[in-house]
Amino acid sequence: AEIHHHEFKVQELAVRRLCRNHRVVMVNGQFPGPTLQVRNGDSLVVKVTNAAPYNVTIHWHGIRQLRNPWADGPEYVTQCPIQPGGSYTYRFTITDQEGTLWWHAHSRWLRTTVYGALVIRPKLGSPYPFPTPKIEFPVVLGEWWDRKVISVLRQALFTGAAPNVSDAITINGQPGDLFRCSSQGTTKLIVNQGDTVLLRVINAALNQQLFFSVANHQLTVVATDAVYTKQFTTNVIMVGPGQTTDVLLTANQQPGRYYMAARAYATAKNAPFDNTTATSILEYRSANSQPILPQLPAYNDTNTVTAFSNQIKSPGYKVNVPTKIDENLFMAVGLGFFNCSPGPRCQGPNNTRFGASMNNVSFVLPRRTSLLQAYTQNIPNIYTTDFPPVPPVQFDYTGNVPRGLWQPVKGTKLYNLKFGSSVQIVLQDTSIFSTEDHPVHLHGYHFYIVGQGFGNFNPSSDTANFNLVDPPQRNTIDVPVGGWAAIRFVADNPGVWFMHCHIDTHLGWGFAMAFIVENGIGEFEILLPPPSDLPRC
Ligand code: C2O
Repeated sequence: AEIHHHEFKVQELAVRRLCRNHRVVMVNGQFPGPTLQVRNGDSLVVKVTNAAPYNVTIHWHGIRQLRNPWADGPEYVTQCPIQPGGSYTYRFTITDQEGTLWWHAHSRWLRTTVYGALVIRPKLGSPYPFPTPKIEFPVVLGEWWDRKVISVLRQALFTGAAPNVSDAITINGQPGDLFRCSSQGTTKLIVNQGDTVLLRVINAALNQQLFFSVANHQLTVVATDAVYTKQFTTNVIMVGPGQTTDVLLTANQQPGRYYMAARAYATAKNAPFDNTTATSILEYRSANSQPILPQLPAYNDTNTVTAFSNQIKSPGYKVNVPTKIDENLFMAVGLGFFNCSPGPRCQGPNNTRFGASMNNVSFVLPRRTSLLQAYTQNIPNIYTTDFPPVPPVQFDYTGNVPRGLWQPVKGTKLYNLKFGSSVQIVLQDTSIFSTEDHPVHLHGYHFYIVGQGFGNFNPSSDTANFNLVDPPQRNTIDVPVGGWAAIRFVADNPGVWFMHCHIDTHLGWGFAMAFIVENGIGEFEILLPPPSDLPRC
């Protein structure tokens, strides 16, 4: 195994998109940031130097960080932010993970532009579980605002209004040919007739689920969230924020130019969304025809999404789903309203402002230190461990909810898990504001998705239908709109691990909680000591 050393310099620099320059924060002068290439079993040593005028941290999304939450990165959860002028070195090893992950800033709104791909190939000499592709190509989907992003998000977070939608979906930082002043930069992938290509599709967008499709070409799904899947072929994939999907494509069409395109899957009723289409070009060598656009589903085509996600299965080997459950949690999640005294901050109905919660708790990050430091150093009054394992009141979650039943409380509430316990979590979407699908991400773990469906979860009939044979494993579950999803994992990674909606505005509104996974007793069941350069608050 190799050790890869990298330096990340975080800086604010100007980028030109849609005919205008904007100063944005980025790494090493690159937007998107550098692609990191490693193999399973390798280690990374990334020294992050903050030359930007904002606090920053970097999160290695999906890396399990075994016994090592010190390298996970969410600010005030596992570390204090790296302050302007400061630096911190993330040291971690990739253990039994192959496929595509990514990294991003985990510090307020900065992940809008601070992100990049993290490609994990098999160990030297180990094959892929499919014919080795001729070409590998990361497809990093994002969003671009034609104004100061900080002001856009400030408006959402501080006035409690719906966020201003982005002005362009992007592919590898580029909106593509359908936008003004953008054709020159359009991402291009040049292939020879007959080539097989592995596209590593990452949804790094802030607030938007995305469909992705390539004109005239079929996509064979081989992995999601750096776990191999049963292979299946489809015309279109849907990727939620935080998720990755690896697909194989064969260049077996008429030599020509074909658009690879991305567009929103948007489920919140009457909420504005970015309805633009980002394009990149799959170009057969020396072809120069007018590119063809793929047919993308309508923005609200939930049937296509359901059919697609039902096909994602684990390949059948190495499946080890917990069957005896020690911790059975039910989390009603979604948007809600806070009372607020009349004024411009109250953009919700009847003098309220938007918030979000899990089991009626709207999560507040500490500021004095991180949760992980508070936990390991026994610092009092930073958090409580009374996160409710079931909602405080039960009702028809996806029906018409009387608002009095669902006024979130603010708190920094964590939930304790014993080392080695088997955990089941049912995530139930709610409809206080409107039903909406939520990409819920758990740090430090891959979990099995044993079931999902629409409406209210029914503990007897739905549990009876759980898939314990070949459920997929992921780190981010897109909970169906107006529905539920059930996940299972064994709490075998000690530390403090954040769980939250990967839609950035929802996270900012409080859609989050954290687990404390206690140490076990074995030598390899306890937390590693903190690095000496861990930033101070
Ligand atoms: Cu990719 Cu806590 O996030």
